[in-house]
Amino acid sequence: MSQLLEIQFVSLSAAPTGTLVLLAGQELALGPVARGLDERMKGALSKAARAADFTGKAKAAIEILAPVAIDVPRLLLLGTGKAAKELDRLLLGGFAFAQISARKGDTASIIAEPADLGEASAEVFAADLALGAMLRSYTFKKYRTTRKSEEGAEEEPRDEPRKLVIQCAKPDAAAKAFAARKAVAEGAFLARDLVNEPANMLGPVEFAERMRDLSRTGLEIEVLDEDQLAALKMGALLAVGQGSERPSRVVVMQWHGAKSKRAKTLCFVGKGVCFDTGGISMKPAGGMEDMKGDMGGAACVAGLMLALATRKAAVNAVGLIGLTENMPSGKAQRPGDIVTSMSGQTIEVLNTDAEGRLVLADVLWYAQERFKPRFIVDLATLTGAIIVALGKEYAGLFSNDDRLASELAAAGEATGEKVWRMPLGKAYDKLIDSKNADMKNIGGRHAGAITGAQFVQRFIKDTPWAHLDVAGTAMDSSRSDINPSWASGWGVRLLDRLIADNYEKAEK
Ligand code: BES
Ligand code: MN
Ligand code: ZN
Repeated sequence: MSQLLEIQFVSLSAAPTGTLVLLAGQELALGPVARGLDERMKGALSKAARAADFTGKAKAAIEILAPVAIDVPRLLLLGTGKAAKELDRLLLGGFAFAQISARKGDTASIIAEPADLGEASAEVFAADLALGAMLRSYTFKKYRTTRKSEEGAEEEPRDEPRKLVIQCAKPDAAAKAFAARKAVAEGAFLARDLVNEPANMLGPVEFAERMRDLSRTGLEIEVLDEDQLAALKMGALLAVGQGSERPSRVVVMQWHGAKSKRAKTLCFVGKGVCFDTGGISMKPAGGMEDMKGDMGGAACVAGLMLALATRKAAVNAVGLIGLTENMPSGKAQRPGDIVTSMSGQTIEVLNTDAEGRLVLADVLWYAQERFKPRFIVDLATLTGAIIVALGKEYAGLFSNDDRLASELAAAGEATGEKVWRMPLGKAYDKLIDSKNADMKNIGGRHAGAITGAQFVQRFIKDTPWAHLDVAGTAMDSSRSDINPSWASGWGVRLLDRLIADNYEKAEK
């Protein structure tokens, strides 16, 4: 995995090292440590702030080099704005990391003493700041042998910040609060790494092997090969992979953390198309390279399972991922082929580029048969149509269960990984009826994300279910103060929060 930023929590009175970061709230509200430093500097800090019209707004920053009377090379004063909500604190941490890393030096100390803590305690404020910084510190540079920025420009050789010291009122409590957050960050990093990895390096077999490695965390990992998938009659998933030289795999990852023996399993299913050429219904060349990210749903499920195991979540959860590659070849499936899914339902494949739903069909069926889950959430980079509808701000949410849908919406607002509910219904479902089989795999020009979801729903029994179409959010994602990468790791924080807020306490 990409190297993790080292984060340490110490007391407010400790001597800072490296770049010293101070925070100012609105109207230049400084905490006691910052005020003390300002006094030692004979008011130079507040004077500089006034000279720069710095008022403490979010994302405002000033720098003082070689401050007098303080033994650090530079001082950064960052505005916090209101910083009332959890997400504000994460974004502030991310912004602070970016400000630090834009400057020389490989360590920094942040004085985490906001003038106004909002709803947070001192330790939560510090831990959230740390999580934001960590999320921002992600890089994917393993294949770069020269130092270039993501845009390709030559960079000045410079040390990256490796260590962040967070000075706060309750360092021990903050370190404890951060441990669970760090587990989630590691999950998001795993998801980002998997999505960034090119398809020549990460096919279905390599992806599955990387999942096997996760057993060190206490996850129980099973890898099903093509013989086993054939024995299970996963005809839809296998049809997608039949054109590829590389065999398909299904990985089952189980985490048993619930206190009660009766606790029902939560299921998470991910589309893992390691590369999607479209198959015989081939995609145009322009932008096809992005289809290395067509396993973003599976990557999220992998990251979530890693997070749950690392923070020892009090829940029973299973992650299932369908790994395959959609290639054109003499063995590939053809438009018009009819395949039989594990459920027994037949599918007329009118477009081999609508392959993700074929993968989900079999893995979802298998998940329900084997685990009888309390609910299933599936994630898939399923349709370009969801990007037309929602852009990159929201993932599409489709659900047969209002409670699960509203829990996901709330988790989305809290984490910033937002979902927007879309409709399902009979009239849409009719659009995928077929003359020649039980259904066809495309619905026509209208409502492409919805007909995709309707198709998936045909493989859901009466389990509470939510489908997240993450085509717009998992890859080529919009960058933010906590997401510096093409691969966002979208969904790991969302689903971890869904579980933490609703399913880890006593059975409801
Ligand atoms: N993986 C694509 C969807 C996608 C598109 C993901 C853009 C990320 C960015 C999916 O397999 C696909 O090709 N969907 C088709 C469905 C169509 C043939 C009904 C699409 O969206 O065009
Ligand atoms: Mn496709
Ligand atoms: Zn696809």
